[in-house]
Amino acid sequence: MEQYLKSIKVGFIGGGNMASAIGAGLIHKGILNPDNVWVSGRTDRTHSFWRELGAHPTLKNNEVANNCNIIFLTVKPHMLDDALNTIVEKKAEKFENKLFISVLVGVSLEILHTKLSAVVTSPRIIRSMPNTPMMVGEGITVYCNKNAEPKDLELVDTLFSYIGISQSVPENTINAIGSLSGCGPAFAYLIIESLADGGVRMGVPRPIATKFAAQVLVGAGKMVLETGRHPGQLKDEVCSPGGNSIAGVHAMEKGGVRGSMMNAVEAAANKANELASQLNK
Ligand SMILES: NC(=O)c1ccc[n+]([C@@H]2O[C@H](COP(=O)([O-])OP(=O)(O)OC[C@H]3O[C@@H](n4cnc5c(N)ncnc54)[C@H](OP(=O)(O)O)[C@@H]3O)[C@@H](O)[C@H]2O)c1
Repeated sequence: MEQYLKSIKVGFIGGGNMASAIGAGLIHKGILNPDNVWVSGRTDRTHSFWRELGAHPTLKNNEVANNCNIIFLTVKPHMLDDALNTIVEKKAEKFENKLFISVLVGVSLEILHTKLSAVVTSPRIIRSMPNTPMMVGEGITVYCNKNAEPKDLELVDTLFSYIGISQSVPENTINAIGSLSGCGPAFAYLIIESLADGGVRMGVPRPIATKFAAQVLVGAGKMVLETGRHPGQLKDEVCSPGGNSIAGVHAMEKGGVRGSMMNAVEAAANKANELASQLNK
């Protein structure tokens, strides 16, 4: 598979944050050959970034479609129509069967299929929901598909697994899961920042406080994933009777941290559903 991945030609329509997280992540890991990667943008804002990586930046979306059989859609949802309109130069022309991997929040497989069918004969489509920590190889990607072949699913799973955890899910769960995994890093950064603030308040220098707060989340996350133990059990193991950890946990409970976290995921999922119903009208 590694040899095959090095030989595939991969395109990104839109070369911003998400394309960099996926494309640069895979290039840095040596999974994709940068000479086989094409990236388009509306302006040349990100061209030097891609050029330095050894990829081919372009202002022409149809150059990406011409050169690549695997095409990531990495524009913002409201930019999709514009981007697709410029893929085919003559309206009657259509590209042959290609694999598209969308990362667009809220745009359903049905809508993607309708829009892509104007550009490509029998598009094979993956709707994915990645998150930005894939930039450091610790991402989460969930995905569902329409007309994808088993080899496409294997390819997508392999690609995303190189930069984190990857899992196929039913489409009707993608907004809820995405609100946990896609928005979750924002929630986690807030926790890191506030843990560090606590350290600073008690006299810990800021750089140490931030570094240690981040490592606390990395370590705790690994403990849950690698031991398979329930987080409540792991918390109990840190809290000795009458000790300082349980005093801190009590303070957190008084602050309503559990309710706040649950509310954050609920609010993000509600917003995703609201955006999805506007986008999929
Ligand atoms: N950020 C996240 O955590 C996250 C998580 C999951 C999913 N997503 C999804 O990822 C997608 C991209 O988000 P992002 O944060 O990467 O956005 P971004 O940084 O703004 O990147 C969007 C890119 O699209 C390019 N673009 C705009 N119009 C275009 C056109 N007509 N043809 C070709 N390229 C065009 C822009 O080019 P210029 O630079 O020249 O303007 C820009 O580089 C969104 O759909 C979002 O829903 C994001």
